[in-house]
Amino acid sequence: MLNPTLTITIFTILAASHANKTVDEQGFIGHLTTSFINIVGLLTKVSHKYPNPKGCLKEDNEFDFIIVGSGPSGSVLANRLSEEECWQILLLEAGNEACPITEVPLLCGTLEFSKYNWGYKSEKMDGFCTGCIDGRMQLPHGKALGGSSVINYMIYMRGNKLDYDRWEAMGNPGWSYKDIFPYFLTAEDANITGYKDAGYHKKGGYLGVSDVTYRSRAAYAYVEAAQEAGHRFVDYNGRGQVGVSYVQTTTKGGKRVSAESAFLRPIRNRTNLFIRTGSQVTKVLIEPGSNKAYGVEFVRNGKKYKAVARKEVIVSAGGFNSPQLLMLSGIGPKNHLQEVGIPVIKDLPVGETLYDHPVFAGIIFTVNESIVLDLKSTILDPDSYVEYLQRGSGPLTVIGGVEALTFINTNISDDSDPRLPDVELIFIGGSLSVDHGVILRRLLNIPRATYDVMWKPLEGKQTFQVFPMLFHPKSKGYMKLRSSNPFDPPKFYLNYFSDPEHIDIENMIAGIREIQRIVEFPAMQKFGATIVDTPIPGCEHYAFDSDAYWECGLRTLIGSLYHQVGTCKMGPREDKEAVVDSRLRVHGIKNLRVADTSIIPLPVTAHTVEPAYVVGERGADLIKQDWGVL
Ligand SMILES: Cc1cc2nc3c(=O)[nH]c(=O)nc-3n(C[C@H](O)[C@H](O)[C@H](O)COP(=O)(O)OP(=O)(O)OC[C@H]3O[C@@H](n4cnc5c(N)ncnc54)[C@H](O)[C@@H]3O)c2cc1C
Ligand SMILES: *[C@@H]1O[C@H](CO)[C@@H](O)[C@H](O)[C@H]1NC(C)=O
Ligand SMILES: *[C@@H]1O[C@H](CO)[C@@H](O)[C@H](O)[C@H]1NC(C)=O
Ligand SMILES: *[C@@H]1O[C@H](CO)[C@@H](O)[C@H](O)[C@H]1NC(C)=O
Ligand SMILES: *[C@@H]1O[C@H](CO)[C@@H](O)[C@H](O)[C@H]1NC(C)=O
Ligand SMILES: *[C@@H]1O[C@H](CO)[C@@H](O)[C@H](O)[C@H]1NC(C)=O
Repeated sequence: MLNPTLTITIFTILAASHANKTVDEQGFIGHLTTSFINIVGLLTKVSHKYPNPKGCLKEDNEFDFIIVGSGPSGSVLANRLSEEECWQILLLEAGNEACPITEVPLLCGTLEFSKYNWGYKSEKMDGFCTGCIDGRMQLPHGKALGGSSVINYMIYMRGNKLDYDRWEAMGNPGWSYKDIFPYFLTAEDANITGYKDAGYHKKGGYLGVSDVTYRSRAAYAYVEAAQEAGHRFVDYNGRGQVGVSYVQTTTKGGKRVSAESAFLRPIRNRTNLFIRTGSQVTKVLIEPGSNKAYGVEFVRNGKKYKAVARKEVIVSAGGFNSPQLLMLSGIGPKNHLQEVGIPVIKDLPVGETLYDHPVFAGIIFTVNESIVLDLKSTILDPDSYVEYLQRGSGPLTVIGGVEALTFINTNISDDSDPRLPDVELIFIGGSLSVDHGVILRRLLNIPRATYDVMWKPLEGKQTFQVFPMLFHPKSKGYMKLRSSNPFDPPKFYLNYFSDPEHIDIENMIAGIREIQRIVEFPAMQKFGATIVDTPIPGCEHYAFDSDAYWECGLRTLIGSLYHQVGTCKMGPREDKEAVVDSRLRVHGIKNLRVADTSIIPLPVTAHTVEPAYVVGERGADLIKQDWGVL
């Protein structure tokens, strides 16, 4: 465990070194955070070693199943498949085991600047993120044992019943809500109080799910105001999703629960599970002619290895890297593969569908009492560490500032079903000004100059923000390889706000209007909640608060909430966008499946970690059925 004195010392040095910075935009914080995490990593014992029961790695090792990637989906698969004692499983992960500092919920934002992130950015395009640094958006993806669940914000959300029913209706039997619901319960170890719906939660599974017990007074006031505005108080993982709620998280005892700590750590002594970290798969090996996958090539410590799969290769490398690996292996759009010089094995629309959840951080409120989270004092105050370490409670357990969620159904989208929210309002018990522009603004690639206009004058003041997030964007992006080099980052073209009907923009504006309406109710007005009317740089020529102003603001400062889906879309052969079938088998290739968020066919009414876990659970059952053990 972390030594409190040491942690405080390091944070104090960090804070002091930021005091009067005039530093290079891109590099400084990255280096600082990386070295901080490295120092803490060195000084803290990682007690959960993964033993290697078979000695050194040899070339041409043979296994029954090879799983590529240890994110939520891959870790569940490794766990469930290795329940079969006679199956030998190899789990290959490009990243390494994460150090315990990653378990402190409040610090999650800083992890984006650590070695546990692949560090991708979107390609510059017209019409969105025009005011971001270089016109590009940060697209973090986890690179660690446990995948993105090691760096994510820990929001636990299953999604809407209608999401899964739609997947099934699109030609994917076995994915209806009725089919999927049992997986939520199998995995869950719930400790939530006050509002859980009977029959919707369970104790005793691998995945810890908890409330955050520490809440700012602003969060209580906001949740009350939302109810005054007519939003029902709900368990959004229960009977219905529309309403307002405090956040449910993948944490336990105040600490992050990752795919590694939940699904791998408890089974690390299984002798039939081989876990290799620092091992990046560069190619799936496919027999020409028969189109049968039989193994993988991977690189570990600069050395190339080959591993053979007697039964199947399962690609669980996440929404960006699974499509990348398929394309590197010759499975993808024919023209594109030829363009980058990769021999085509199977022409499939890999990477041609990319949905994501846009999020907007340009709405700020002030209040007239000390009711918001005080991030700076929390980080510098020894007591918060003592409370955290001794009791797993206190402000360090707040997940990066996110405290409450409202699920609304605007009248803009064509989702007429009242059970299906189209916008989420994410309440943050503070604003980007809390850290003086050191870290939070960089998550959204907001330039220092923009920060200085909008947030700097608010430093030291009582502020909070509510971020609207669009659940079901109509705009569709795509991704491509940069080159045939597996170590080159792919290119991501998000196409936000490109739908010709203009629905995505209007839907977001409807979300902004609802935030403004909620804040007008007495529970928030008691604290004089007032919108900050400093125009977003670049939008000064519009009347503040007009629809045209917000459209400009959205296009200028939009960010991603890291929920990319659809890049290896699941669907029947007739579906021109489909890459895998409903049993997750790659169309036209034998013994090769994809199982992770990339198969999700539509933007989901959730943050995607829980959907990723259930894709792993469902995938494991499908594999067991197909090999006759279930
Ligand atoms: C910063 C951030 C915050 C988020 N916050 C939330 C949140 O609060 N709530 C929520 O529900 N969701 C959140 N998400 C999304 C959620 O974490 C992901 O959707 C989920 O982890 C996806 O799981 P996965 O199994 O599909 O893939 P991933 O978690 O992406 O895991 C894929 C793994 O495969 C490895 N890999 C990739 N390529 C290779 C290769 N070639 N060889 C070997 N290994 C490889 C990667 O290193 C990685 O470990 C967040 C994501 C990020 C990045
Ligand atoms: C920062 O600047 C202030 C005044 O501008 C000065 O008093 C202070 O000592 C400086 N701090 C550091 C760490 O340089
Ligand atoms: C459940 O959470 C409460 C705090 O809300 C805590 O006191 C209790 O110890 C937790 N129980 C378990 C089993 O973790
Ligand atoms: C692994 O450890 C658990 C206890 O953590 C024990 O019950 C189990 O028998 C062990 N299995 C093997 C294969 O050693
Ligand atoms: C949608 O709601 C807004 C405000 O609530 C209202 O002004 C607008 O007329 C409504 N539009 C439709 C098409 O009902
Ligand atoms: C905050 O503002 C509200 C509404 O204007 C007012 O009623 C309240 O007295 C103010 N509180 C303080 C501490 O100024």
